Amino acid sequence: MTTTAKTGNPDTDTPKGHGFLELIDVDHVELYVGNAKQAAYYYAAAFGFNITAYKGLETGCRTHASYLLEQGNIRLVLTTALTPDHPACKHVSLYGDGVKDIAFCVKDALAAYEATTSRGGNGAMEPSEAEDRYGTIRQSAIHTYGEVWHSFVDRSEYKGKFFPGFEPIDPPVNRINREGDCGLRFLDHAVGNVEEGKMNEWVRWYEEVMGFSMFKHFDDADISTEYSALMSKVMSSGRGIIKFPINEPAPGKKKSQIQEYLDWHNGMPGVQHLAFRTDDGINSVGELRRRGVEFLHLPDTYYEIIWDRVGEIKEDRAKVKELGILVDRDDKGYLLQIFTKPIEDRPTLFFEIITRRGSESFGKGNFKALFESLELEQERRGNL
Ligand SMILES: [Fe+2]
Repeated sequence: MTTTAKTGNPDTDTPKGHGFLELIDVDHVELYVGNAKQAAYYYAAAFGFNITAYKGLETGCRTHASYLLEQGNIRLVLTTALTPDHPACKHVSLYGDGVKDIAFCVKDALAAYEATTSRGGNGAMEPSEAEDRYGTIRQSAIHTYGEVWHSFVDRSEYKGKFFPGFEPIDPPVNRINREGDCGLRFLDHAVGNVEEGKMNEWVRWYEEVMGFSMFKHFDDADISTEYSALMSKVMSSGRGIIKFPINEPAPGKKKSQIQEYLDWHNGMPGVQHLAFRTDDGINSVGELRRRGVEFLHLPDTYYEIIWDRVGEIKEDRAKVKELGILVDRDDKGYLLQIFTKPIEDRPTLFFEIITRRGSESFGKGNFKALFESLELEQERRGNL
């Protein structure tokens, strides 16, 4: 991992659009958590992230502690409050652990701030500089849905590990990852849940403020079971760096999984899941299962009908079934995907592990099977 622009996402190198925002890549995703020290251990031991840098009391920061976790091209930052007035403290009490910031690498943080705020974006952090002996980072941030930020980070004049104030670390838990690689490479997409009737507002926001365009949309005819439904539109940055599906609940006989999220997220929109891309879904999911990661169960009948629909795949079908991986095909190819159970006690944030073999979609053919599984979990929690 270098501190310059990252290049692990193959989509990054293929300009697809005309975005006025020059987003180089996703820089990092920051989560506010209740106990960053313990959370870092969990993400390292369960998901294969290396804990590579730290900021806290020992490094002179007296308001919060943050851990940088890295895997492939993915950077997660886990931040916990050290004082009651740090924003992470209130955030965690209201919403539990969750995503605070999906930050982008940019060439010019000031220009990104001016371009987005002049188009109606709401500023969260005015352009500022942070420096230490390794150089200067320029950054700014705007608000998106709920309490989530999009930061803009220009690290072109910074040679340090991550951000000023962070010191490199290599705790013993990283050894587990050197012995068995989980193979997660980069953030494929990040999904937001918003309130019923608000999806189109946020679609317009990504179009107008960020210069994104709509990549796909699904309505409740696509994504529903007998009981519950949702609607989803996928927004894509001009250069296709990352896709941002936005979901809203749709009326059904029983409660939508999106509504369950909102109920347990204090009514506030937020990030529902982060999807990490791997080149080898069989190895990645096998390793994650070995480490104790819990995934959603599929209905028993899933594999009885899937192969007729999906046809030939490169992977061993028996392995796919044994690991409980979902498969879907579109006109460009196929994908393998699997979803973790919520990664905290509230039914809010979860992760997806995805392998794309040509497919650029999101597993539409799996929605029904998946939602029946989700409803089963909702029913167990008394939330259906
Ligand atoms: Fe997804």
